[in-house]
Amino acid sequence: MKPYKPPFIPSSEITPRDLFESRRKFMQLAGGASLAALLPHGVWAAEKLMDVKKSIYTVPEELTPQKDVTSYNNFYEFGTSKDQPAMSAGSLKTRPWTITVEGEVKKPKVFTIEELLKLSPLEERIYRLRCVEAWSMVVPWIGFSLSELIKQVEPTGNAKFVEFVTLHDPEQMPGQKTAVLEWPYREGLRMDEAMHPLTLLTLGLYGEVLPNQNGAPVRVVMPWKYGFKSAKSIVSIRFVEKQPTTSWMKAGPNEYGFYANVNPEVDHPRWTQAKERRIGEFLKRKTLMFNGYADEVAPLYSGMDLTKSF
Ligand code: MTE
Repeated sequence: MKPYKPPFIPSSEITPRDLFESRRKFMQLAGGASLAALLPHGVWAAEKLMDVKKSIYTVPEELTPQKDVTSYNNFYEFGTSKDQPAMSAGSLKTRPWTITVEGEVKKPKVFTIEELLKLSPLEERIYRLRCVEAWSMVVPWIGFSLSELIKQVEPTGNAKFVEFVTLHDPEQMPGQKTAVLEWPYREGLRMDEAMHPLTLLTLGLYGEVLPNQNGAPVRVVMPWKYGFKSAKSIVSIRFVEKQPTTSWMKAGPNEYGFYANVNPEVDHPRWTQAKERRIGEFLKRKTLMFNGYADEVAPLYSGMDLTKSF
C-alpha cells in the first residue's frame, strides 16, 4: 500500500469559518494539489485531511471560530496560560510519531500516524466541548471512534480501564521543566467509556490535521466529559485492570475526579458548574447534563452516585 501523504496548502491566515466550506471544495477540485507555504512566525503549515465523511454524531450548532479553537488552549506542556500553546507548540515534532498500544491485550501493536490515518474512514464530528473552567466551544473534529483501534488489539478479560499517556520530552515541551503537573500527562477511561462510539480518536479539526497546540498528531475527545479528559499528543494507550490515577487527580484529588462527566449539579469546590460561557459569546448559558449527550451516555452511569464518582 502507498504511504499516506497529506496534501499541503498555504495557510498564511487561519481559515475563517465562511471560507472553510469553499476551501474544502477547492481542495476536492484540485484533487489534493501540493503547494509550498511561506508562513509568518507562529502560524503552522496546515495539512488538509481528504476523504472526510460527515458523521451522524454531530450537533447542529454554530461553530466556534477556528482562530479561537487554535489560539485559546489548555496544554500545560507549553505553559499554563491560554495563549502560550499557540505561540510555543511549534517546538513539538509530530513526525515521525508512533503510538504504542499495549497492556492487557492479545495483540499489542505500535501504530505509526500514517497507519492510524488509514485504520478507519475519517469522520467530521461537530462536538460541544465543555472545559472544567466553565467555558465551552463547538468544534468540527476529525477522527474515528477509538473502539476501531481497540478492536485491532483484542483486549483481554482483564482490561477494565484504558490509560492515555502524552509524550514526555521537556526539550520539545518546555512546560514539563516545571512541576505544575506530574509528567507525562496521564488520563484514563473505563473500558465501556473507551468503547463508546462517541469517544473520538482525533487526528484533525476544521478539515486539517491537528495543529500542535490542539494535541497533534493524535488526541482523544470525549464530548460528555470535561475537556481535561481529552489527552493530547498521545504516545501510548495502555489497557489495565485497575483504575489509573490521572495527572489531574494527583494535582487536586478533591477537585478533579476520575470520571469528570459534565454535570451542572455537581460544583467544582471553587466555582459553580451550572453555567458556562461559550467562547465568543457574552451571556452565559446553562450547562447541560453530560454536556447534552445524556441520551447517549447516561446508561453508562446508571446506579452510580455521581456526587461521589465525580
Ligand atoms: N492534554 C495534555 N497532554 N496536556 C494538557 O494540559 N489540557 C486538557 C486537555 N488535554 C491538556 C490536555 C484541558 S484542561 C483541556 S480543556 C483540553 O485539553 C483543551 O483542548 P483544546 O486546547 O484543544 O481546546
